[in-house]
Amino acid sequence: MVKIAPSLLSADFGNLARDIERVKTADWLHIDVMDGSFVSNITIGVPVVKSIRKITDMFLDVHLMIEKPSRYISAFADAGADLLSIHLEADMPPGIQEALRIMDEKQVKKGIVLRPITSAEAVLPYLEQVDLVLVMTVEPGFGGQAFMEDQLSKIAAIRRYIEQYHPGCYLQVDGGVDPKTAKQVIEAGADVLVAGSAIYGASDVEAAIAALRGDQRK
Ligand code: DX5
Ligand code: ZN
Repeated sequence: MVKIAPSLLSADFGNLARDIERVKTADWLHIDVMDGSFVSNITIGVPVVKSIRKITDMFLDVHLMIEKPSRYISAFADAGADLLSIHLEADMPPGIQEALRIMDEKQVKKGIVLRPITSAEAVLPYLEQVDLVLVMTVEPGFGGQAFMEDQLSKIAAIRRYIEQYHPGCYLQVDGGVDPKTAKQVIEAGADVLVAGSAIYGASDVEAAIAALRGDQRK
């Protein structure tokens, strides 16, 4: 059964509590942190994650689109994140290892993220020690972009690496996921789907979550 992680980026930031409640039939809550440097946009920071933690028991999946993420791992862990994912392009390998080490120390789950340009093989040095690999199917920075079909072969390649080196590691996909592309990424091997506009842009949010799971009955 795939997990669905609604992206709060498409929620109404003036009504976060309401919009978190609206997606309670989903599995995880995906929170996009952007620093205006790794990506041009600026979104949510530590205090907002802390406030979200107080109002929900949902699993907080925090996607860090920030340069040199090791600087902020402790702060986001202390704010209540359950999983932190960091971009492999955001630092040199020793910095990535340091960020993963702090996640271990803080006992949060560890994720690594690949921009569309980054190849599947880039996960290999880290795969055995992480809980999740996230493949971006849009350029990170904004919601509502078109799904990049050329990433499907990368998802399939990483699924093969996971089966070989770390069965049980989650394979998450983020960007342009809707009921049609959800089917494609699940076939390619993804098991956690992030969706912003396909969920919050729908008139019936619960039905939209069910549709991403492949359930047409709702
Ligand atoms: C983009 C973010 C995504 C974004 C997805 O950088 O990482 O999580 O919210 O939005 P949709 O599902 O609308 O493409
Ligand atoms: Zn994201």
